[in-house]
Amino acid sequence: MIKIPRTPRRRTTRSALPSAVTAVVAVAALSVAATPAANAASTLKSAAASKGKTFGAAVANYHLGESQYASTLDTEFSGVTPENEMKWDTTEPSRGSFNFGAADSIVAHAQSHGMKIRGHTLVWHNQLPGWVSGISSGSDLNNAMTNHIAQVAGHYRGKIWYWDVVNEAFNEDGSRRQSVFQQRIGNAYIENAFRAAHSADPNAKLCYNDYNTDGQNAKSNAIYAMVQDFKNRGVPIDCVGFQSHLGSNQVPGDYQANLQRFANLGVDVNITELDIAGSGQQQADDYAKVVRACVAVSRCTSITTWGVTDKYSWRSGSTPLLFDGNYAKKQAYYSVISAFGG
Ligand code: G3I
Repeated sequence: MIKIPRTPRRRTTRSALPSAVTAVVAVAALSVAATPAANAASTLKSAAASKGKTFGAAVANYHLGESQYASTLDTEFSGVTPENEMKWDTTEPSRGSFNFGAADSIVAHAQSHGMKIRGHTLVWHNQLPGWVSGISSGSDLNNAMTNHIAQVAGHYRGKIWYWDVVNEAFNEDGSRRQSVFQQRIGNAYIENAFRAAHSADPNAKLCYNDYNTDGQNAKSNAIYAMVQDFKNRGVPIDCVGFQSHLGSNQVPGDYQANLQRFANLGVDVNITELDIAGSGQQQADDYAKVVRACVAVSRCTSITTWGVTDKYSWRSGSTPLLFDGNYAKKQAYYSVISAFGG
């Protein structure tokens, strides 16, 4: 059980000090409380950096104009993932017509604040424009997919740390999801996508990303086999993303071992969309377990929470993030800092 240390900035026993000195000490204490300290444990990003990790957040472009949203992001996080702005329905709404405005804003913000950028996501069955799903020929769909990847990854060439190249391609039983890509192109679409992404941006690290893969199960085993096959055949893959959308008290007991077995294949592991339902001490303990697992796996390079504040979370009803609806730090915030050794 992680006990969250109460963190009074400073206490003075008023009776022990003359009133003038008390006042000076109180003002000093307040200024310390109000000003983020410069030490390693004072923000999520500095605590993560003390263990060589990046701590990011999914960002929605239309919230960047809200001062508390932007200030919390800029103070606490060292990475961003555009929540929706790089998805196919936004970037290529009609065939051959590209729209990068919203994602460019996030990329520019991140670059001006020294944040690393995770691109999300080049090939996914969801948030696809209708014209893609309407393509009947496998070769034509493969052409559309590889061109999409070339244009989008090419537009951000040199700016993306990790790309989620393919997202959620497997079913819970380990079989392939019957997306339009799987149905029209067949099994090869995933490696075709990775090869196209590598050609478009050779320096970006390329990830396969999925959910419900946080322990060893049929789905994570199928992904493990695919990564092993890709590494054996020289298909360019550098990373596996674990979304880690978790329920309360549901961090699998083999969370760390699962990350480690993928790292042992010779890829980085990223916790890509972390949010954990609940509140209070249980949520704090759950977050701490995830962070400790990443700290223990050297190739776990990045943890990203899927949002900044509960109020804009895709599952806001579960209050799954580290800042509440008023941007106040929650118990889980402090347990994350503590789990990094802060
Ligand atoms: O942009 C339109 C807007 O024009 C319209 O007025 C509005 C109302 O219909 O919808 C807006 O689009 C919404 C979009 O988010 C942008 O806000 C979609 O309806 C909404 O479905 C979409 O939800 C996103 C969801 O993916 C879609 O599946 C969530 O914000 C986003 O957090 C979520 O993220 C996914 C990851 O990409 C992949 N892993 C799972 C994760 C949670 O579903």
